[in-house]
This record gives sequence, C-alpha cells and structure tokens, in this order.
Amino acid sequence: MAERVEVLLSEEEVNKRIREIGDQISKDYAGKQVHLVCVLKGGSFFMCELAKRITVPVSLDFMSVSSYGKDTKSSGVVRIVKDLDEPLTDKHVLVIEDIVDSGRTLSYLLEMLKDRGPKDVKLCTLLDKPSRRVVDVKVDYTGFEIPDEFVVGYGLDYDQKYRNLPYVGIVKFD
Ligand code: IMP
Ligand code: MG
Repeated sequence: MAERVEVLLSEEEVNKRIREIGDQISKDYAGKQVHLVCVLKGGSFFMCELAKRITVPVSLDFMSVSSYGKDTKSSGVVRIVKDLDEPLTDKHVLVIEDIVDSGRTLSYLLEMLKDRGPKDVKLCTLLDKPSRRVVDVKVDYTGFEIPDEFVVGYGLDYDQKYRNLPYVGIVKFD
C-alpha cells in the first residue's frame, strides 16, 4: 500500500527541543555521571543527538526488547532481545526511548532495571502519546506530547522504514 509522510515536527523543532532537554539534564545531574540506556532501535537517533548536548560525564549502553505475542499483551511482559553490556549498580540511569504509547513496555522495563541496584532510574522520551496510556509510567523528560497518530522518523519506523527521516512525520494512507 502506498503511504505518504506529513511533517509533524520539523528537524529544527526537534533539534531545538533536544538541546533544551540536554541543558535541563546537564543541570539536574550536575556533579554526577549519567548512564544513558538506549532502547533500540527507535531510541538510537534521539540518544545520539541528546548525548552530544549533555555536559556532565556520560556513559552509554543499549538494550533491545520485544513484546511477547498478542495473548500476553495485557500483561506487558517484554522479552529481552539484547541485554545491557554493563551492570547498573550504583549508576544514575536515564532510559532513552523514542515514544511512550500504552506505557506497557516502559513500565515493565523500568521495574526490571530498578532491580539491578542503580542509584536511581529516570525516563526520557522524545515523544509521548498520553491519550493512549494504559499503564501509568512516570516520564521525567518529554520532548513533545503528540496526538494519537502513527508517527515515523527520528528513529521511529513503519514496517522498518522511515527511521532515518531527520524529522517526525505522520503516516497517511490515501
Ligand atoms: P508501548 O508504550 O508499550 O505501547 O509501546 C511503545 C512502543 O511501540 C514504542 O517503543 C514504539 O516502538 C512503538 N510505537 C508506538 N507508537 C508508535 C508510533 O506512532 N510510531 C512508531 N512506533 C510506535
Ligand atoms: Mg521503541
């Protein structure tokens, strides 16, 4: 099916907002080292841009998760496809996500990471669709709250396409 992508947030808007969040994180973590945990693949573009804007010491790690089948969707259980390389013991962990939708993935993931002995765990997402929330998740840093539309770009995909768009767009089918 042919689809087209309509710009929702321009490259300039996104980059400006990422700089603002980077400044805020640098202030909030003053005197500390922040350990960024990127949720692949969607969070990768956002994390790279954000990490460049943070002025306190930064370390990075990556993990990849996938939801179990439809049947267990309501449980929110996710499968770890690629785990972190480093332990989280005594670290100030900041999870970097592309989007929080129902909140199922993040709520499961955050609880799992909190069990690994970090000093604290916070969440930073580029996009948030609050109207879609099913499970309550505390978001510490949000780039943009967006309406209930399917978006792509800046790491987000539709059928693995469009992750590389330098802006955030809405997929239209017509
Ligand atoms: P949830 O918060 O557990 O429902 O799932 C969030 C995940 O679903 C995100 O990490 C994305 O991978 C995916 N997702 C949710 N909404 C969108 C969207 O609008 N475009 C692309 N992927 C999305
Ligand atoms: Mg994701």
